[in-house]
Amino acid sequence: MKIGLSKLEEKDPFVLFDKWFKLASKHEISDPNAMSLSTSNLNSFPNVRIVLMKKFDKDGLVFFSNSRSKKGREIESNSKVAACFHWKSLEKQVRLRGKIKRITDIESDHYFSSRDRNSQIGAWASLQSKKLSKRSELEKRYNEISVKYKNKEIPRPSHWCGYIIKASSIEFWDNRAYRLHERLLFEEKKGKWISCNLFP
Ligand SMILES: Cc1cc2nc3c(=O)[nH]c(=O)nc-3n(C[C@H](O)[C@H](O)[C@H](O)COP(=O)(O)O)c2cc1C
Repeated sequence: MKIGLSKLEEKDPFVLFDKWFKLASKHEISDPNAMSLSTSNLNSFPNVRIVLMKKFDKDGLVFFSNSRSKKGREIESNSKVAACFHWKSLEKQVRLRGKIKRITDIESDHYFSSRDRNSQIGAWASLQSKKLSKRSELEKRYNEISVKYKNKEIPRPSHWCGYIIKASSIEFWDNRAYRLHERLLFEEKKGKWISCNLFP
């Protein structure tokens, strides 16, 4: 389905994002919520990896991770990030840039408690982004934690948390024939979204 970005009268990028995300949720084979997230620590090359967006609204896009991971440490030193969704089935892309921060512990607790038990154990077992000498080391940690919390509620590790990206620019890209793609850029200026089209 083509929405026609150049004729679009949408004033709010989140309304458009919501429309596209609903379409993607219908048509993508898996993980329509997968986004590449770019972080950097200012003195080094940027890093990029996939994370799963778990929630979005006007306040931002939320995902969960380990604050001691590479991304967690980079976010700590530089709150400016970029993210990108590509929905192959729709031939659409959404890019965004903005500032990131941790969500509250209560919100993270709430989401952690909704995860299945094995994933909760996994969150404790993984020292995300640290060097692993052998796979059995991870399996051993997993088994030890399973025993430790047998028949008990598993608390959220304090380093496992949610992050929210508050976008200040969002660009929608829609495939067209002959590479004459449509691009619509929204930028936030003093609390208002200003939009313009870009050459493909
Ligand atoms: C489809 C997919 C979904 C993923 N979702 C997450 C996620 O939500 N959170 C996360 O921390 N890592 C997720 N990962 C793993 C990350 O891409 C990455 O390997 C990990 O977070 C370590 O990244 P870092 O070393 O840059 O911190 C996902 C990977 C894939 C392929």
